[in-house]
Amino acid sequence: MKFLSVIAALYFCHLIIFFCILAAAGDSPSPYYTPTEITFVACGCLGNISAHGQTWVGDVSSQYSPLGHQQSTISTKPREPPYSASRLSHSQFTYTFNVTPGQKFIRLHFYSTSYSGFNISSAFFSVKANSFTLVNNFSASFAPDDTFFKEFCINVPEDQKSLSITFTPSPDYQDSYAFINGIELVSMPLNLYYTAADDQSLEFVGEGSQFSILNSNALETLYRINVGGSFISPQMDTGMYRTWIADDGYVTDARPSALPVNTTIVLRFSRILNFSAPLAVYRTARTMGLDKNINEHYNLTWEFQVDSGFIYFVRLHFCEFQLEVTEERDRVFKIYLANLTAEDVADVIAWSGGNGVPEYRDYAVAIGSKSDVKKQNLSIALHPAPRWRTKYSDSILNGIEIFKVDNNGSLAGPNPYPTVSQASSFGTRSPQQSTKAKNNRPRMLGIVGVVASGLVVLFIVFLLISRRAVMKEAKSRGPASSLPSDLCTQFSISEIKEATKDFNNLLIIGRGGFGNVYKGFLNGDSIPVAIKRLNPGSQQGALEFQTEIGMLSQLRYLHLVSLIGYCNDDGQMILVYDYMARGTLRDHLYNSDNPPLPWDRRLKICIGAARALHYLHTGASKVIIHRDVKTTNILLDEEWVAKVSDFGLCKFGPNFSKTHVSTQVKGSIGYLDPEYYRLQLLTEKSDVYSFGVVLLEVLCARPPILRTGDKKQVNLAVWATECYRNGKIGDIIDPFLKGNAPPVCLNQFAEVAMSCVNDDRIRRPSMSDVVWGLEFVFQLLRESSEKSEKLGEIEHKTVRYDSASLTRDVFSDIVNPQGR
Ligand SMILES: *[C@@H]1O[C@H](CO)[C@@H](O)[C@H](O)[C@H]1NC(C)=O
Ligand SMILES: *[C@@H]1O[C@H](CO)[C@@H](O)[C@H](O)[C@H]1NC(C)=O
Ligand SMILES: *[C@@H]1O[C@H](CO)[C@@H](O)[C@H](O)[C@H]1NC(C)=O
Ligand SMILES: *[C@@H]1O[C@H](CO)[C@@H](O)[C@H](O)[C@H]1NC(C)=O
Ligand SMILES: *[C@@H]1O[C@H](CO)[C@@H](O)[C@H](O)[C@H]1NC(C)=O
Ligand SMILES: *[C@@H]1O[C@H](CO)[C@@H](O)[C@H](O)[C@H]1NC(C)=O
Ligand SMILES: *[C@@H]1O[C@H](CO)[C@@H](O)[C@H](O)[C@H]1NC(C)=O
Ligand SMILES: *[C@@H]1O[C@H](CO)[C@@H](O)[C@H](O)[C@H]1NC(C)=O
Ligand SMILES: *[C@@H]1O[C@H](CO)[C@@H](O)[C@H](O)[C@H]1NC(C)=O
Repeated sequence: MKFLSVIAALYFCHLIIFFCILAAAGDSPSPYYTPTEITFVACGCLGNISAHGQTWVGDVSSQYSPLGHQQSTISTKPREPPYSASRLSHSQFTYTFNVTPGQKFIRLHFYSTSYSGFNISSAFFSVKANSFTLVNNFSASFAPDDTFFKEFCINVPEDQKSLSITFTPSPDYQDSYAFINGIELVSMPLNLYYTAADDQSLEFVGEGSQFSILNSNALETLYRINVGGSFISPQMDTGMYRTWIADDGYVTDARPSALPVNTTIVLRFSRILNFSAPLAVYRTARTMGLDKNINEHYNLTWEFQVDSGFIYFVRLHFCEFQLEVTEERDRVFKIYLANLTAEDVADVIAWSGGNGVPEYRDYAVAIGSKSDVKKQNLSIALHPAPRWRTKYSDSILNGIEIFKVDNNGSLAGPNPYPTVSQASSFGTRSPQQSTKAKNNRPRMLGIVGVVASGLVVLFIVFLLISRRAVMKEAKSRGPASSLPSDLCTQFSISEIKEATKDFNNLLIIGRGGFGNVYKGFLNGDSIPVAIKRLNPGSQQGALEFQTEIGMLSQLRYLHLVSLIGYCNDDGQMILVYDYMARGTLRDHLYNSDNPPLPWDRRLKICIGAARALHYLHTGASKVIIHRDVKTTNILLDEEWVAKVSDFGLCKFGPNFSKTHVSTQVKGSIGYLDPEYYRLQLLTEKSDVYSFGVVLLEVLCARPPILRTGDKKQVNLAVWATECYRNGKIGDIIDPFLKGNAPPVCLNQFAEVAMSCVNDDRIRRPSMSDVVWGLEFVFQLLRESSEKSEKLGEIEHKTVRYDSASLTRDVFSDIVNPQGR
């Protein structure tokens, strides 16, 4: 009875956790930031223009017409918006925006070119936003690119309801004029860069004190760098339309060994970094190289030109990725900012808590005035810590942001402007490179963690409740109520014969190498059950029969099929399960007459099955490896709840001291982990591989093995990997989904699937990572449907299904246990 209670308590705990997670998913923060305020103004334009996925509202005869525009002129040039038109004036003009109080990005777009009557060499002007001077005696003609933008952060205080941006031609020059091509106003997440009242973490380097970016400060973004990577377009940012550029032009000392590296981190995001950077930033890095001796004798250095006489706010982004670097003190290094020691012991693992987890650090550093030097270089240098402190003499950096902090309300520096980092955000740089960027994965880890820690309490509570609960449950289960000492019933052969009308062929709902599955009703009960009869006399069958009973009678979980009982009379091997009204997942994907499953349902099924595997891997006292994960072993009940079935091949996993068990290779063709196959070493990552194949089947609606003419395409995992590498995964996605699921979801889902079928098992995510990844896709889906609801764009989606376009070939020698 004690055992019973424990099992039941576990079961209920899991149910509770499941619902907690569901509930938590409801109000977990959005993976992307959704600006409360977002305005794109195309100066000198009439009407709305759409460009780069945004609607730019013309400032001519609209709510955004500037004050003083009577004196201004409008000119156009054949460029992409917002550079296609310009507002120019020899006298002052002011844009006024009605805004809610709070922190905002302001981006000013300029195209430095002459128009008739306006020679660019006399464009000298100042720009003020409320009380802040953004630029003074500014000349766009000094910028290195002809189209560029400048980004500022300012706070609109509680008592103000508007933001005015005033352009004033410089009084020191004759014929001076001011001009502007585009203005962006985007609200910022609270305290993304500003310092929260209780935050003491911003170190003033060289001063030994704390610094704060207050609401009374303004910032100018000078550099926003994706170290080791490439351009990330505003559309690929995490909702704030920021632009990230490569670091190549700024690295001044990187020995040949310090190549940029692709970090290939997957799905390990343990917390939301306040949307601070898109995943792509953490996908690439720069390290010093493999040679200790070289590394110990140089500083990996970047230099950024800045104005003298200002304080700079520097944010450095880190994410450890190298597989060897998992412990504190593995990679420890020093950080120098402007030749000052900012960090004596930089240890990314200690900061972030683990490999694959992103983290950032903030610093303030002053670049003093020098009478004759208007520009100086702010250097960021990394150097390995002494050998006694670090296992690997190396350092790492993933991203850099540098902001100028206003000096008594002014951000204005002298001309020429610092090499403006931000050439046109819509420029010629190929944005395709960053299509992978929309990946800032939020983490529900925090929530899950809280839930997990509550588990102990829940456990005790439920231990008390469970006794009663399990009795009730057993009763409602019918036959199980007669079960005295175990959770599953032993049936007599006559009961089974009665239930299956003496194994009537008409009641067969599944056939396989092991035998048949029948639908039956026990004791004249109205509740249907599935009865699996293993071929008597099979040696292997006998073993699997015992494994299945052994495993399933101990496991109870929403997403595992429930074993009701078994029959062992006269050498029979019969298993009785809950009946799964909707059969196998495969029946709803291909080679059947069922209508195609909608995307949200596919996703929920995958999440359920992933949870079941996660439960097997971590929920019981020992790791349980399923070994036969496939779409025919994922069953669906009346309510489309996924249930993982068939535990005949299950194995207890390794103990903590060992990392694998060696076994004879078992499983189904097309789903087999190549590394398991090769090395005959079984780990739970083999299930992850097979589950990856399941995800691909769900995504592409084709069997894992398809005998077609083209050899490359036979094995789904191999073929998908090749398509993915070539950026062509879209070509093999189920055509039905293409019209009926948001592309961002499909991409994300594909990415989860691809990470699971990685050849190198160490690089595969754990099942809990997979669950997170899929939940994230679900969240994206919900968000995009909320968005389209908001826009009133909900159209009744008709089911488009072009079965002819899918090559459907039968491959059915894989056994099909219980199901139809
Ligand atoms: C232009 O777009 C804005 C916001 O996107 C909208 O409020 C306005 O009605 C549009 N104007 C026209 C003329 O379409
Ligand atoms: C603008 O002025 C500069 C010098 O004042 C002159 O060299 C240049 O030709 C002028 N450009 C145009 C387009 O008038
Ligand atoms: C990183 O990935 C990009 C895109 O896949 C590729 O072009 C580049 O060569 C890779 N760089 C390294 C160092 O592997
Ligand atoms: C950002 O992080 C701070 C502190 O870590 C937190 O208080 C705040 O709610 C977060 N903001 C968002 C938008 O998640
Ligand atoms: C840092 O040191 C380098 C050489 O050691 C020097 O050229 C540079 O001016 C220094 N930078 C600052 C901000 O002092
Ligand atoms: C690295 O930079 C720091 C700060 O500029 C300097 O003190 C140190 O000597 C440099 N180390 C090497 C090996 O160049
Ligand atoms: C600043 O760095 C640039 C390269 O990034 C270099 O060309 C220039 O000489 C440096 N200036 C100073 C004052 O060190
Ligand atoms: C700050 O600016 C105000 C007005 O712009 C000026 O009166 C004041 O003297 C300035 N303070 C300092 C320290 O420069
Ligand atoms: C304005 O900028 C120009 C170009 O850098 C410079 O020559 C001039 O001295 C500046 N004028 C003032 C008043 O600062």
